[in-house]
Amino acid sequence: MLLDHHFYLAPLQGFTDFAYRRCHHQLFRSVDEFYIPYLAIGPGQKIRNSQLRDCLPENNVGLPVVPQILCSNVDELRRLAQEVAQMGYSKLNLNLGCPYPMATKRGRGTGLLEKSEQLKGVLDTLFSDFDFSVSVKFRSGMTDEQTILKQFELLQKYPFEKLIYHPRTAKQLYKGTANRELFAQLAAQSDKPLVYNGDISSKDDLDEIRQLVPNQKEWMIGRGVLSDPLLIDRLKGKTISEQEALQLKMQFHKQLLEAYRATYQDDGHVLIKMKQFWSYFANSFPNPAKTYKPIKKASKLARFLEIYPAISQKSI
Ligand SMILES: Cc1cc2nc3c(=O)[nH]c(=O)nc-3n(C[C@H](O)[C@H](O)[C@H](O)COP(=O)(O)O)c2cc1C
Repeated sequence: MLLDHHFYLAPLQGFTDFAYRRCHHQLFRSVDEFYIPYLAIGPGQKIRNSQLRDCLPENNVGLPVVPQILCSNVDELRRLAQEVAQMGYSKLNLNLGCPYPMATKRGRGTGLLEKSEQLKGVLDTLFSDFDFSVSVKFRSGMTDEQTILKQFELLQKYPFEKLIYHPRTAKQLYKGTANRELFAQLAAQSDKPLVYNGDISSKDDLDEIRQLVPNQKEWMIGRGVLSDPLLIDRLKGKTISEQEALQLKMQFHKQLLEAYRATYQDDGHVLIKMKQFWSYFANSFPNPAKTYKPIKKASKLARFLEIYPAISQKSI
């Protein structure tokens, strides 16, 4: 049993919102910290209402959440960090890993990781003008994974509470494999906790990484938990029968469905949401493609509601 290990839910914009976090925490209580998908300055210099709503303390009561910000310069940092401070949070995560050109071309995410001067400005301000316990989430670089070896020296100069590393370049997006050896190399150099993040979807994955970094005890997981909400329990060594797992998974998704039906008036919107979730969730069933196909084809929420309970019957 990995009782002294910590597991964090990765921020997944469009998926791990407060409805998801609440349902997961109510049913499983296995996540030590939920990282909220980023807040950023959007079109018209405004932070999207949906992002603000996701962060609001009243929507996260009883949840161990950490807000995240995505910024390119000191001005953006100040606005976003002030917003988070006003909400009363004491923890803040800085995103230096977003790989999408929309962000990186504006010097955000991995774009900021590569710009040492801007990055120094942002970090100096964050640590001098604010009172947060700060963590940072980053990738290896834009195209060259060796970039991180140099930029890590810069990151090490600041008093981060923890550093979270997803060992892929921005160019890779989510393709190829995460470079576990590079993680091990950086972990050996780090004088602060370095959280591992990337491609953990089974106990075998975790064990393989643990062979490279035997002392590793902090893990962040995203898509693996979307596919199997019980993954962290399984990684910790909890025994769950197939029958029990299926029942819990279906209960979880029923609660999620109810939460979205209560949030959105429009059935079409709820259907889109549920299809997105099932595109991952189907992976934890014996035949993912076959499980997802009828869900993908459902053109009305009513049809989805007919199909998805039947899936649990067939899979037993
Ligand atoms: C749909 C999607 C949305 C994401 N949104 C964010 C985000 O808001 N902030 C962030 O730091 N990373 C984001 N990520 C990256 C994840 O947090 C995580 O680093 C990545 O999925 C690798 O971990 P995994 O292999 O366990 O999923 C996102 C990834 C995906 C697939």
